[in-house]
Amino acid sequence: MCGIIGYVGEREALPIILDSLQRIEYRGYDSCGILVQDNSADGKFQVHKSLKSIAQLKNNLAESEYTGTIGVGHTRWATHGVPARRNAHPHFDCEGEIAVVHNGIIENFQALKEGPLSNCRFKSDTDTEVIAHLTKKKMIKTDSLEGFELQLKEAVKACLSELMGSYAIIVTAKGFDGLVAARQDSPLIIGVGDRENFIASDVPAVLEQTNRIIYLEEGDIAVVKKDSIYIENNDSEVKRNERLIPWTTEDAEKGGYEHFMLKEIHEEPKAIIDTLRGYLSEEGICLGLECDARRILMVACGTSYYAALCGKYMIEHLAKVPVQVELASEFNYSDFVLDDMMVMAITQSGETADTLMALKKAKRFGCKTVAITNVVGSTATRIADDAIYIRAGLEIGVAATKSFIAQLVIFYLLGLFLAKMPKHRLEERISDLELMPLLAQVVLDEEGENIQKQAGYLSNYANAFFVGRGVNLPIALEGALKLKEISYIHAEGYAAGELKHGPFALLTEDTPVIAIMTPDSTYDKTVGNVKEIKARGAPVIAIAEQGDEEVEKYVDRVIRVPKTGAIFSPIANTVALHLLAYWTAKERGCEIDKPRNLAKSVTVE
Ligand code: M6R
Repeated sequence: MCGIIGYVGEREALPIILDSLQRIEYRGYDSCGILVQDNSADGKFQVHKSLKSIAQLKNNLAESEYTGTIGVGHTRWATHGVPARRNAHPHFDCEGEIAVVHNGIIENFQALKEGPLSNCRFKSDTDTEVIAHLTKKKMIKTDSLEGFELQLKEAVKACLSELMGSYAIIVTAKGFDGLVAARQDSPLIIGVGDRENFIASDVPAVLEQTNRIIYLEEGDIAVVKKDSIYIENNDSEVKRNERLIPWTTEDAEKGGYEHFMLKEIHEEPKAIIDTLRGYLSEEGICLGLECDARRILMVACGTSYYAALCGKYMIEHLAKVPVQVELASEFNYSDFVLDDMMVMAITQSGETADTLMALKKAKRFGCKTVAITNVVGSTATRIADDAIYIRAGLEIGVAATKSFIAQLVIFYLLGLFLAKMPKHRLEERISDLELMPLLAQVVLDEEGENIQKQAGYLSNYANAFFVGRGVNLPIALEGALKLKEISYIHAEGYAAGELKHGPFALLTEDTPVIAIMTPDSTYDKTVGNVKEIKARGAPVIAIAEQGDEEVEKYVDRVIRVPKTGAIFSPIANTVALHLLAYWTAKERGCEIDKPRNLAKSVTVE
C-alpha cells in the first residue's frame, strides 16, 4: 500500500523525507510526492511530484529549492486513478492551503464529490483529494495560531466523521507549525525524537532517526509538533505508550546483497533460530498461550495462507487437533459457522486489511483469537486476544521469504505444544526442531549454484507448474506464487495427483513442472504422477533428497535438499524454491524487490 511520512523539527525536512520514503518504497512505488513548508510566516508549500523512483528524486531535487523544517512525503500504490503526476500525493484544497497524504481507500468519495463538494475543482482522479477539500470546508477563519491549531484539528475531525473507508492521513496547512495525523483501519505510527517528531505508515521509515515509537490506535487523531504530541480519541485526550523497537537500520539495509529478497533468503536459517529461541526453554515450549483448543481456524492471505495450509498438516500430524484454513478475503463474506474454535490470524505484517476484518469477525462471534505476526504492536496484535510473534526480523522485500519460514517454525512449535506429549518424547522432537536451521543452511551453502543453473533454464519459459503432496502441497503453492510474483512467469501450484484432472491439457514440452519429491508415504504416487507428466512431453525439475538416486530415472533435472523426516521437509524445500524464484527473476532482469503492481502490505480489502 502507499507509504506516508511526515516530519516536524529543527532540521531540513527534505533529506529526511526522501530518506524515509526510500526505506518504505516497498509499500508502493508507482509515483511519489513531497511537500516542504518554508519557514516564512505564510508557510509556503514547495511541492514536487514524480513518476520516478525515490532514488532518482534524491538525485534530481536540489535541497536548496525545498528548504523548511516541516514536510510530508508519499509513495503511491495506485487504487483510484492511474499512476500519473496528477494522482500523486499530496492533494490539496482549491486554494492550495491544506495538503493531505493518505494511505487507504475513501469509499464514499464519489458521493462527496457530487454532494457537499460539488462546487470544488478536483485536479486528480483520487479518492484522497476529497479529504483536502472537505477539511477546508470545515475550517472556520481565525487569526491566532493557537486558534488555528484547534480549528485545523476540529476541521480534520469533522471531515473524517463524513468519510467511509480506511485511512492513515497526514494533513498540513500553510503557516501551521505542526502536522495533524489520523488513522482508521490503516497503520500509522509516530516516531519520537528530540525536538523533532515523525509520523509514518510504518516503522522502517523512521528507524534511521529514532526507535521510540508510538502506535496510533483506531480512531486516533494526533497533533504533532516539534516538541509536543497530542493525541485524542472520541473527543478526549488519550495517552499512548512509547515502545522501543529492537530493529536496527542495518536490518533495513541490503548488507552487501544485490536485493533485499536475496539477503532475506540468506537470513532464513537465522529466522528459524531466533523464532525457536524465543519459545524454547528448560520447561519445553512456552508460547505464552493459555490454550486448550479443540478446533482451530486459521485465516490468512497470500504467502501467509500457504504457511497456514502447511501449519494445518503439521498441527494435525503432531497434535491431532483439527485445523481449518480459510482465505481471509473469502471468510469475511461467507456464512461460515464459527463455534468454539480458536481463530488464528496469520499475517506477517499484522496489517493486511482482509485478515484484520477476519479477526474482527471472529471476535464478534466470541471466538478466542490469536495473531501470529512478525510486527510487534501491529494492528492484528491489538485486535486479537493473544499474539505469537514470529521472529523473522524486519522483512523488506515485497516477496515474503524468511517470514514464511518463521511461520512454519511457529506451526511446528504449536503442533508440539498442543500435542501434550511426555517430556522425553517432547525433548526428542525439540532436538529435531533444532536441526532445522542447519537444513536451511545446507541448501544455501551446497545447492545455491545448482539452483542458479536450474533457474537459468526455467527463465526461458512462459508457464510452469509446481506440484507436491501432503505437507509439501502448500510448499508447491508457495513456490508458484513466488515465481510468478517476481519473475512474471505464469506459474500454478497443484496437488501432484490433480494435474490429470484438467491441467494436463496444458502440458507440452514448453511447460516445465517443478515436482517436490520428498520420500514420504506418497513418494511412489508422486513418481507415478511424474511419469504421466513426462509422457506428455513436459520437462520435470525435481526437488529431491540427497541420496535419492532413483529420482534421476524419472526427471530431467534435480535440485537436492538434505535428508530429513517428511514433516520437516518443507523447510529445506522452501529455501530451494525461494532461491529458484529469485535466480529466475534475476536471469529475466526483473525488478526483484519491487515487482510490478504489488506492495508489501495490503491495507485495503
Ligand atoms: O502481511 P501478511 O502476511 O498478512 O501479507 C499477506 C500477503 O499479502 C503476503 O503474504 C503476500 O502474498 C506476499 N508478499 C507474497 O510474497
